[in-house]
Amino acid sequence: MKVTIVGAGAVGASCAEYVAIKNFASEVVLIDIKENYAEGKAMDLMQTSSLLGFDTKITGSTNDYSKTAGSDIAVITSGIPRKPGMTREELIGINADIVKSVSSSLIEHSPEVTIIVVSNPMDTMTYLVHKTTNLPKNKIIGMGGALDSARFKYRISEALDCPSSDVDGMVIGGHSDTGMVPLTRLATRNSVPVSKFLSEDRISQISEDTKVGGATLTKMLGTSAWYAPGAAVSSLVQAIACDQKKMFPCSALLEGEYGLNDLCIGVPVILGKNGIEQIVEIELDDAEKAKLKESAEGVSKTNGLLDVKS
Ligand code: 2OP
Repeated sequence: MKVTIVGAGAVGASCAEYVAIKNFASEVVLIDIKENYAEGKAMDLMQTSSLLGFDTKITGSTNDYSKTAGSDIAVITSGIPRKPGMTREELIGINADIVKSVSSSLIEHSPEVTIIVVSNPMDTMTYLVHKTTNLPKNKIIGMGGALDSARFKYRISEALDCPSSDVDGMVIGGHSDTGMVPLTRLATRNSVPVSKFLSEDRISQISEDTKVGGATLTKMLGTSAWYAPGAAVSSLVQAIACDQKKMFPCSALLEGEYGLNDLCIGVPVILGKNGIEQIVEIELDDAEKAKLKESAEGVSKTNGLLDVKS
């Protein structure tokens, strides 16, 4: 199983580390435009292999896509991260060109690759890959909801003072500070609705904190977060690589599902060896439907800034 990670920055290198530690991939190629940067990160990571006990071979390359040939899965993290006060959508100008060129280089050397997009604005970058490549739609996945759901579960476990492994919850919708839809009605603590333990006010605060989870960390760190984004995308890589049939909220191209068309937005999907193997249409109440529709309008508006035919 060969995995390429484009962008050896904090998110990409964290993803490489987690993929290696999980030890399901024979090879991880880190690629970056900065001279020797990916090579250095790969060497540093390989020097942990005897300490952390993984066999995965991690190599780095300075923008030589021939080294990525035959990749089964490729993660695109390249592009600029946001700074404090910026929205993800403000990154579109620079990141669209990068994602377009990176995806074409990846496919040139690995025509069967499954691409996972992390670069922001992620839903629009995922849509861009659909519009500018001939990859089948099941092989283009956007990572946002897995991260947002992890933040949602963290906030619930913090409020309940319980292990996050006791919490289940999902965030759908756009990966944006205003477009996320944390499904508070369906969140549980060991199958018991969280409303049994938390007041309505507390639950809505958790929802609001989740939506700005990325922005909160960007303010604290001075740049975008990387541990949780790296871990979230490594989970998607593993689900595909190991054919786990695992369900995650991912940005997927919708063609009528949830009454939405011609956009990529976070919905529950089953991930396996064929990438998105199923889009799961869950029952939403009227309020959730309205929030998802509003979120989709926001994503479509950002998509409108792309120089692609709808
Ligand atoms: C985040 O929310 C980078 O968009 C990513 O942290």
